[in-house]
Amino acid sequence: MMEMTLADFLSLPDAVKVRYIRDFAILYSQQFSREDLDAYCRLADACRFLHRQPGGANVMSQLLRHRMALNFFVQPSSRTFMSFNTAQAYLGMNRMSVRDVNISSISKGESLVDSVRTFISYVDLVVMRHSDENAGAAAFWTAMQAHRRLRIEEQDRPVPIISGGSGSQQHPTQALLDIYTLDKALEPIGGIDGKSFMLVGDLARGRTVRSLSYLMKNYRGVQLFFAAPERYQMRADLLEFLDRNEISWQMIGSISEAIDVVDAVYMTRIQDEYDHLATGKHVPATKEFVFTMNHLRRMKQTACLLHPLPKRDEIDPEVDYVEDPRVMYWRQERNGMWMRVAIIAKLFKVDGAILDAYESDEM
Ligand code: NCD
Repeated sequence: MMEMTLADFLSLPDAVKVRYIRDFAILYSQQFSREDLDAYCRLADACRFLHRQPGGANVMSQLLRHRMALNFFVQPSSRTFMSFNTAQAYLGMNRMSVRDVNISSISKGESLVDSVRTFISYVDLVVMRHSDENAGAAAFWTAMQAHRRLRIEEQDRPVPIISGGSGSQQHPTQALLDIYTLDKALEPIGGIDGKSFMLVGDLARGRTVRSLSYLMKNYRGVQLFFAAPERYQMRADLLEFLDRNEISWQMIGSISEAIDVVDAVYMTRIQDEYDHLATGKHVPATKEFVFTMNHLRRMKQTACLLHPLPKRDEIDPEVDYVEDPRVMYWRQERNGMWMRVAIIAKLFKVDGAILDAYESDEM
């Protein structure tokens, strides 16, 4: 039980909220230390390799057979929804989903906290995507207040909540899978430490780039280039966070300005669903911020091109099908599923069983 009203909890700065959240939920990138990130990457690898071994998939599918997951996604989603579903299936979980508030009791005027309280009386995990950036924190508060506890490794724990995207602010599991992808791609040249990254597109409202930027505090000597038209540039709160954590950053006016020097490019689409005067028509990317074959030719041989997807016109379609290992967004998508297996396994403390099976000679 938390001795705090919902309003009091929501009014805390995120850096303070994470002290309450600990490892009970996954809502903010600021929750993770370097040690956590390294462990998640190792675990995602172990899940992937174990699943390929004869008998490995079977071992995994026994781990959470008695658990029920709810995927509560009331904003559009393809990858995150599907990869969480697949990850849950690999771990043997039962699954339900709510994808449309119009067919849930929220449309009858039920509050989000009442809905969540109902969910957690039936399920053992809630993964949620919501347009309200506070929805995940409110769900966590509800899980703490509710009486139901899960017995996990001799400990009574609240029903875990995982954010699958919180408004325009955070997308922590995407950031974890992006780190996993970068960690693997940059391993031959010493990993993420000391590298420079270009983030391109809608940095103002892109929750993926925000969550990824927060994680960079865990790596030494990282340099960030923010390539965006002025109105889509990175917001002051995040720049202040980077300054406080001594991460160097620079705003630039085109991809061309830094393409020759960076170790990875992270593209994003214009998040025009947040435009107040949304016309239903998509806002096209500006020429300076469209990734072309020419940029690919200029990019370092050891660098890589990422995109959380979905993409539109910000990458020249020719780039999609070139035989070039540096074009990494399709692999990144697949990495996401393994990272989500790892995230759920760690929440339910079956990560040790996965690592043991992976390391054992029989597998
Ligand atoms: C992103 C999201 O939902 O924030 N998609 C995803 O989860 N891979 C990116 C986006 O929608 O632009």
